[in-house]
Amino acid sequence: MQGIFSDRISDVPRSFIREILKVAIDPTIISFAGGLPNRDLFPVEEIKKAAIRVLEEDGKRALQYGNSEGLFELRKYISERYMKKQHLEIPVENILITNGSQQALDLLAKVILNEGDSVVVEEPGYLGALQTFSVYRARLIPVPVDEEGMDVGALKTTLLNEKIKLIYTVPNFQNPSGITYSDRNREEIAHLLRGKATILVEDNPYGELRFSGENKRSFRAIIPENAVLLGSFSKIVAPGVRLGWIVAPDFLMEKIITAKQAADLHTNCLSQRVVYQYLVDNDVDLHVKKIVEVYGRQRTMMLSSIKAHFPASVKSTEPDGGMFLWVTLPRGMSAMKLFHESIKRKVAFVPGDPFYVNKTDVNTIRLNFSCSDEKTIEIGIRRLADVIKKNLRYL
Ligand SMILES: Cc1ncc(COP(=O)(O)O)c(C=O)c1O
Repeated sequence: MQGIFSDRISDVPRSFIREILKVAIDPTIISFAGGLPNRDLFPVEEIKKAAIRVLEEDGKRALQYGNSEGLFELRKYISERYMKKQHLEIPVENILITNGSQQALDLLAKVILNEGDSVVVEEPGYLGALQTFSVYRARLIPVPVDEEGMDVGALKTTLLNEKIKLIYTVPNFQNPSGITYSDRNREEIAHLLRGKATILVEDNPYGELRFSGENKRSFRAIIPENAVLLGSFSKIVAPGVRLGWIVAPDFLMEKIITAKQAADLHTNCLSQRVVYQYLVDNDVDLHVKKIVEVYGRQRTMMLSSIKAHFPASVKSTEPDGGMFLWVTLPRGMSAMKLFHESIKRKVAFVPGDPFYVNKTDVNTIRLNFSCSDEKTIEIGIRRLADVIKKNLRYL
């Protein structure tokens, strides 16, 4: 139907990942392309028990409308967990429950961005965020990240030259690269923002999935007035419950509540109550420890296979947590071309292209290690190594 769509949606390209992954659905393909948590670790029985308990003990309340901020008990649990895990003092009033942290991004963009406003994003950056900011017709300004964190020099220049309302970061075990910002890098970024009308988003869905190294300071602890913190139960419980949250300073929270009301009144009450029941009836730390052990072993196997089989000219990040690592191929080697050849050898990954704002035919790739066991990882990396070596000859 001609002329029916808004400019807002017409300008956003279809998900590149979804398109290319159509090729990778063949079950005989070893896939490092997905971005999902490992479903074998979902606490199905425990959630079932929690759901029965909620419905039997307080079913009518669980099925009624709730308030826009979210279930008080769940917000209190989150506040207490911040204190326990990170010594972060966050009042319950500054926490709002969302339909996954993806909705938190949407609400923030709705509250802060006008068409054409500039947003700093990481390069490479999380695709879901790039898409959300594009829907609000923001101008995306990529700033590179590396093993230390965000390029402070590039950020400083950008802040001098542009009015930046929002900076989007994933400082712990970043998607797609697996890198973590150092404490020093965080301090330097905070120093640039102090006293400025710029919001820094710290999207932290992977923070509890740490295999090695020390926890880093949250931006919320360093610059509370500028920082908005996003959290999620997707990677520590299950993504299907669609529960995340947003931690914002008072002046922002009021507007976020209004945006939440307009979007969906509130997050699913049943889901909130069931997950809350699950959290209080079970040893969540033990559950997270199990996930960390499994992903940690798989990460170690992927890294040691890369070291053993990839040519020395191929570089990889060495994540201390999360679900992904990032590989840089020799200069001039096309990740897209490698992808098509790898599919023929029955191994898949995501070429780096969609994680950049304005670069194509790049030489970087994202590998996921959460969903394949160690043996499969070894076989898959060997196959990938063969394809890379074959391509080296054409450089
Ligand atoms: C960096 C990042 N932010 C947000 C999300 C979305 O998470 P949620 O399931 O909480 O919406 C993801 C999911 O992969 C992610 O990697």
